Order: sequence, then structure tokens, then C-alpha cells
Amino acid sequence: MRLNKFLADAGISSRRQADRIIAAGRVRVNGAVITEMGYMVDPEKDQVTVDGQALILPEKFEYWIMHKPAGYLTSVGDPFGRPTVMDLLPSMQARIYPVGRLDLDTSGLLFFTNDGELALALTHPRHWVEKVYQAKVKGIPSPGTLKRLAEGVELEDGRTAPAKVEIEGVENGNAIVRLTIREGRKRQVRRMLKAVGHPVLMLHRLAVGPLWLGSLAPGEIRCPTPEELDALLRLKKLAIR
Ligand code: URA
Repeated sequence: MRLNKFLADAGISSRRQADRIIAAGRVRVNGAVITEMGYMVDPEKDQVTVDGQALILPEKFEYWIMHKPAGYLTSVGDPFGRPTVMDLLPSMQARIYPVGRLDLDTSGLLFFTNDGELALALTHPRHWVEKVYQAKVKGIPSPGTLKRLAEGVELEDGRTAPAKVEIEGVENGNAIVRLTIREGRKRQVRRMLKAVGHPVLMLHRLAVGPLWLGSLAPGEIRCPTPEELDALLRLKKLAIR
């Protein structure tokens, strides 16, 4: 296997970034600095380190989709012992990680994998992967407000990129808004809606890229369908270019 692919599969970086890490002399194979990205390594026998840290390749790629319930932290552990999404996973041999993050109070689709390159393809801002959210907001946004959300809202970390937005329904004077964004800033949906005067009362993620939650019950997990897996692997392939 080429050294840059090894680094990418181990979740260190994309293959392109791996080339830079290798060229910078940060990678050693069996103790010797290697600066050639096409250098061939045997994952079974060779020891590869980056900045002195040994890399381990996942045995087999795992892909799982979870319906995260509200009230669970998206993290692999919590110093205060609060429930995390990892508590909802069955014990598995491979160590898998959540891709991206949902706030404690947000429910919906959370994807898990040990495929570092795919995780990067789904989360890196350069790839503009669509995330679809359903938000119950206070009040009913006017057509002018929907236009502002769609065109970009000024937030403290800059203007948001164009988004898709529509009202799906109204419950007791509060709207259910469907918002599709391609960025992934911290608490972005909540901040966007608050900025236009309609704070979020409930937030749920319906989709990430080609993955849709469908009828998966809260707290449950499922494997991607063959079609979804195909779409994920195509995305990964496009991203490595
Ligand atoms: N945007 C938010 O505000 N919260 C989330 O959990 C996800 C996106």
C-alpha cells in the first residue's frame, strides 16, 4: 500500500494532506524518515509513525447510522459521566467514531465510521456536503425572513453560505422549518434562526449527504443500504482527487 493511502486510511488526513505531511519529513517507516509519498508499506509488517506516534489501520471499515435521541452528548466520553452516543452502540471489535456533531438537545441522523478518509470527505468544508434539518421555531418566519435565511445570515463568525429553506407546517403558532445547509459551523442552525428572530424550540437532523434517517427509531442504529454505501464510497473517491 502507498504510504499516503496508509496515512489517509488511518484517519490522519486526506491523501493530499498526507503528501504534505510526508514531504515535511514527519513520517517514519520502521524508524527511518521517508519523504517519498509513493513509498510502499506493508500494513502487516511495517511500523509507521507520524511525529513519533504509531499509526494503526482499522481492520475493516465499519459504517453505521444512528438516530441520536436528544439528551445524549456527541462525544466518545464525558468527564461528568453524562450519557453519550457511544452508550447507544453495541460493543464491537472496531472502534468507530461519530462523524460531525449534534448538540446535546438535537436529535436525528448521526453517522459513525472508522474510515478516516470518508469522515473527512463528509465533514471538510471544501466538500459542501448537504445536511438537512427540521427545526421547530418560535413564531412563523415571513417570506422576507425565509429569503434572508436562504441568501445568508450575518453571524459572529461571518455570513452563512446560501441555504435552502421552506416551511413544512405550523403547530400552535410555531413553524416547522426545513433548512438545508452545506456548512457545519458550531450550533449553526440554532444561531441562524435566532439571528432572524425565530429561536429554535426543537432541532432534528433528517439527512447528511446521501444518508437519510428514514423510519429509524430514536436510539436505534442501522447499516447503510447497498445504495447508500455506494454513494458514500463515491463521495470518498471524489474527495481524494
Ligand atoms: N446546528 C445546530 O445548531 N445544532 C446541531 O446540533 C446541528 C446543527
